[in-house]
Amino acid sequence: EKGGYQHFMMKEINEQPKAIRETLQRRIGKDGKIKLDGISLTREDLEKFDKISIVACGTAYHAGLVGKYAIEKMARMPVEVDVASEFRYRDPFVDEKTLFIAISQSGETLDTLMSLREAKSKGARVLSVVNVVGSSVARESDDVFYTWAGPEIAVASTKAYTTQLVCMYLLALYMGDLRGTITEDYYKQVLKELKATPKKVQRILDKAEDIEELAKNLYNRDQIFFIGRGIDSAVAYECSLKLKEVSYINSFAIAAGELKHGTIALMEPETIVIALATQDFLMEKMYSNIEEIRARRAHVIAVTKEGSQISKIKSLEVIRIPKCMDEVSPILTIVPMQLFAYYVARERGENIDKPRNLAKSVTVE
Ligand code: F6R
Repeated sequence: EKGGYQHFMMKEINEQPKAIRETLQRRIGKDGKIKLDGISLTREDLEKFDKISIVACGTAYHAGLVGKYAIEKMARMPVEVDVASEFRYRDPFVDEKTLFIAISQSGETLDTLMSLREAKSKGARVLSVVNVVGSSVARESDDVFYTWAGPEIAVASTKAYTTQLVCMYLLALYMGDLRGTITEDYYKQVLKELKATPKKVQRILDKAEDIEELAKNLYNRDQIFFIGRGIDSAVAYECSLKLKEVSYINSFAIAAGELKHGTIALMEPETIVIALATQDFLMEKMYSNIEEIRARRAHVIAVTKEGSQISKIKSLEVIRIPKCMDEVSPILTIVPMQLFAYYVARERGENIDKPRNLAKSVTVE
């Protein structure tokens, strides 16, 4: 059942090229345009909404953070992202003019479901991004955008996250196209980039040994930080969650520009910082953050695109992801970090598929 892998987590990490391809194929028509069959999001609908509110928990929340960047950039609509346990108790500003998006792998997470009900009772239109067909969240939504990840067994979410990202990009592009906030060329370019991601993810998976090597060097550390800017900061949270939930290493993610407002106090010789630096337009800024940290003699490992300015720094340890448009990099960046979390946990002898204290689907408060 684990298809020759030792753990479901590794099997599911390796299923990502297929899961991403599948999620894309279901939503791209013969004419090369995105089709949201069964989802009613017309131009008139979109004109009615004055904001989008994304609500989810854990990894799905992290997919929502990337969704905010994508939707605001492409569809030029304001997007709020909340963790469900906060949203439902704060009497949120939601009304008939809100498009509410719930993201959930299982479709059974109690806080997400209760948030959805709260939004619905206030008149919002509810769209959900769900993996399990016929789950509670799916049943109670006006429209469902399914991820086609297939069953996810390991407690740590991997392929559900990358397919949730794909859904967020497709939604952002679709809305941007309807609203006329992106050009035809840009639309085609991003779609082309998305279609190229399965192969690029595969290239990362084919070099898993490099990450295994890194994990063997770092598995006995007490803490590991993740930093990033822009869309990379959203991915940093997910990298950190993955690592801590399976390896139990104390991990923490922060927007790189925030470091100097407090957290840099923790940097000392031998502190490990993984710096996500995939955004070409933020490369200089990341470079100075990396230098600030290295000046405290902390150890930085950068995750960056092949050929980037940062990838050429000789004295810096670097993990390279294939070249891609800045917009879609999260789909690639997370993969080596999922592998890293896995290998670190394995070196530490942890119960990877069922980490202590965690349940696959949280149906209680
Ligand atoms: C982390 C993880 C959890 C879930 C969260 C939401 O790897 O799996 O953080 O993402 O419990 O679950 P769903 O998506 O089922 O609502």
